Amino acid sequence: MSAASHRVLVLGRSGQVGQALAALGPRLGQTLVLGRNDADFESPAALRSAIQTLRPQVIVIAAAYTAVDRAESEPEVADRVNARAPAIVAEEADRVGACVVHYSTDYVFDGSGTRPWIESDPPRPLSVYGRTKLAGERAVAATRRHLIFRTSWVVSPVGTNFVRTMLRLAGERTELRVVNDQFGAPTTAARIADVTAAVLAEMADAPADDPRWGTYHLASGGVTTWHGVARAVIGRAIQQGRSLRCTPEAVAPIPTSAYPTAATRPLNSRLSTSALRSTFSLDLPDWSSEVESVVDILCQEPVR
Ligand SMILES: NC(=O)c1ccc[n+]([C@@H]2O[C@H](COP(=O)([O-])OP(=O)(O)OC[C@H]3O[C@@H](n4cnc5c(N)ncnc54)[C@H](OP(=O)(O)O)[C@@H]3O)[C@@H](O)[C@H]2O)c1
Repeated sequence: MSAASHRVLVLGRSGQVGQALAALGPRLGQTLVLGRNDADFESPAALRSAIQTLRPQVIVIAAAYTAVDRAESEPEVADRVNARAPAIVAEEADRVGACVVHYSTDYVFDGSGTRPWIESDPPRPLSVYGRTKLAGERAVAATRRHLIFRTSWVVSPVGTNFVRTMLRLAGERTELRVVNDQFGAPTTAARIADVTAAVLAEMADAPADDPRWGTYHLASGGVTTWHGVARAVIGRAIQQGRSLRCTPEAVAPIPTSAYPTAATRPLNSRLSTSALRSTFSLDLPDWSSEVESVVDILCQEPVR
């Protein structure tokens, strides 16, 4: 069976990655994309029934509780959505014979050191979000036919993300202060969707004993800080003709300690993507061209 003819169920219609997956159209397969109203991750019965009724061959879990700071005060909700719901999906996937694609995060690591994390490095999350995502990973990893993509700093032209926030703030203020001691790579939802489709094209029919099932790091090439991303976003937007009050030079670097948040973030979010690139012969472009692609789309939209 060609990969594009599989019945694919995507959970998480309104999210950045969910929308990017939906935008792939038939390239992903015969895709059905469900949102919270059809498959609430806080309602195990609704999730089970959606999967049993639709009997997909591939299930992609793009829904998650991603409010990293709010999770500190809502640990039960974060746990239900990020840990228990993926466990239920995994169980039902086994029942209907589907493989599962799941997304996780650099926040499963503690951010120590400067070396890019590899898949087998021991996770040690610093936050409720990271702990619940790790529990979700472990539940999905219990199914033999699974792919877990740990990604970082997701950005896209839609949803809540750093690129959109910076463009808004740079339109309002003449100066910005942005942390420059967290290192990682912004990754576009479009790239995550594209890689998902490419890997599924090879894996959707693979047997359970195929050694390529498992966990992979999926992030843009290169490394930067949030400060570096902010400057790149503002510079590109000005180049594209957007009138902003803040210039790249007026973005001041600050340490994480000067910007306290409820959840502790890892300082080293570098993810090594060697395994993904070599196993599936993929190219992962540098973060700067990826971020520019998002800024360019946003600059074509009227300023709100
Ligand atoms: N965003 C990042 O920077 C980042 C970084 C690393 C890894 N990741 C991982 O990448 C994946 C995709 O993230 P994203 O950025 O696309 O997330 P996102 O834009 O925040 O979207 C999250 C999605 O989950 C849905 N959702 C939340 N609670 C739900 C519930 N109870 N029932 C059903 N749906 C629910 C949301 O629906 P509503 O719109 O209805 O709330 C939304 O569709 C996630 O696994 C995330 O952990 C994200």
